[in-house]
Amino acid sequence: MAKTHYVCQNCAAELGKWAGQCPECGAWNSISEQQQPLPARATSASSALDVTPITAVQNGQREQRYSTHIEELDRVLGGGLVTGSAVLMGGSPGIGKSTLLLQAAAKLAAHSGNTLYITGEESAEQVALRGQRIKASDQQLQLLACCELEAMIATIARQKPCAVIMDSIQTTVSNRLSSAPGTVSQVRDCASALIQQAKQLGHALILVGHVTKDGALAGPRVLEHMVDAVLYFEGDRGHAHRIVRAVKNRFGPAGEIGVFEMSDRGLHGIRDASRLFLAERHADTSGSVVLACIEGTRPLLVEVQALVAKTVYATPKRSAVGVDVNRVSMLTAVLERRIGIPLAAHDVYINVAGGAKIIEPAADLAILLAVLSAFYDRPLPVDGAVFGEVGLTGELRAVAQPEARVKEMQQLNFRRVLLPQANVQRLQESSLVTPGLHVQAARSLAEMARLAFTTAS
Ligand code: TYD
Ligand code: MG
Repeated sequence: MAKTHYVCQNCAAELGKWAGQCPECGAWNSISEQQQPLPARATSASSALDVTPITAVQNGQREQRYSTHIEELDRVLGGGLVTGSAVLMGGSPGIGKSTLLLQAAAKLAAHSGNTLYITGEESAEQVALRGQRIKASDQQLQLLACCELEAMIATIARQKPCAVIMDSIQTTVSNRLSSAPGTVSQVRDCASALIQQAKQLGHALILVGHVTKDGALAGPRVLEHMVDAVLYFEGDRGHAHRIVRAVKNRFGPAGEIGVFEMSDRGLHGIRDASRLFLAERHADTSGSVVLACIEGTRPLLVEVQALVAKTVYATPKRSAVGVDVNRVSMLTAVLERRIGIPLAAHDVYINVAGGAKIIEPAADLAILLAVLSAFYDRPLPVDGAVFGEVGLTGELRAVAQPEARVKEMQQLNFRRVLLPQANVQRLQESSLVTPGLHVQAARSLAEMARLAFTTAS
């Protein structure tokens, strides 16, 4: 017997009755009615199964990988596509998912053989035309314009490709379900069938997933748990460069990023990303600080900009692009309380130049020095770069991998590093501290502010 129930299309929460707002995720108008056959449940206890000691499990060979021959993409994947694994590629419309995956598909076809690109949104002609334009084409790259799950499964089983790209999971429909394409039950069922098949047949599977305005995967939050790796496209269409970030990866480091630039020939990888992010920096202006951060396993230099202006509002405004605005509010409060900067009467705007998004707390010190520099209208030394976490008492705390950060700085000719005292020892143990490197360390924000701005003048 079919039972009516209500499912949130945002987070897949199941409810007994309809509601205007989902009690689980808070989304409005996301609950819709669904008919689903009752799952067959075993009524009696199953018989016991054999268990295996972990040491007795055959490790077999190490996982096999197909290189996509796009260095930046391979890096995010942790060294290539793992056979039998499923990867979800999320991103807002028009950001470049189809472009990058078509490029990857052509490379995979050329180097690893038979690759299948399933398109549910564009016709095969459209994809081929784009392929011609960006020179992503190969004899072994097969196209299939199709939306029906059962047909796809049968085709994949016959073709036995080494990799399947499914663009997109939201357009895929199973004819066993009556719900519309893109609904949670469709997306979940289709993805689970495709993932299962990939595990059985051993091909690598890439699913494309759309993202809503607020950055969440449309509908299939559930998808993130089902796949082995989740990659997100960051950046906006206003900028030429795009960052692909691994937010989850069972076969490599999470948080890893790949940097690309969009051109009229598709996306191409940028190895030297720090140079790109600092390209338009006007050195010697106040409110600009170079931050040495770590994204995944890779050090990156970015410019943190601050603007401080007298407020016209009753409560001063805190606004941030590229860093968390709550963190900025907290940090400005620390400035106010711990070193007495009267920011209560000022709006503070923070921007990470070039559209990069920084999540690590090592950005704290850079944000605060940028605010101070803007407030005093005094630039920091042009050859200086900064990292360090700031606590609520105004203390500077050590951050991970100081050596990698300093090494990247030196490669870009920064000769002065401003950092927490607690990081200095590790740095000195490495061979990075040379007479040419000027190390300015402090225990507290107040001490750092004095150091930074006395040497500047
Ligand atoms: P697309 O890859 O189709 O994005 P998605 O699949 O994520 O929706 O589109 C990327 C955008 O990039 C599109 O607006 C056009 C642009 N573009 C280029 O600038 N150069 C190119 O070579 C290509 C193929 C697209
Ligand atoms: Mg697309």
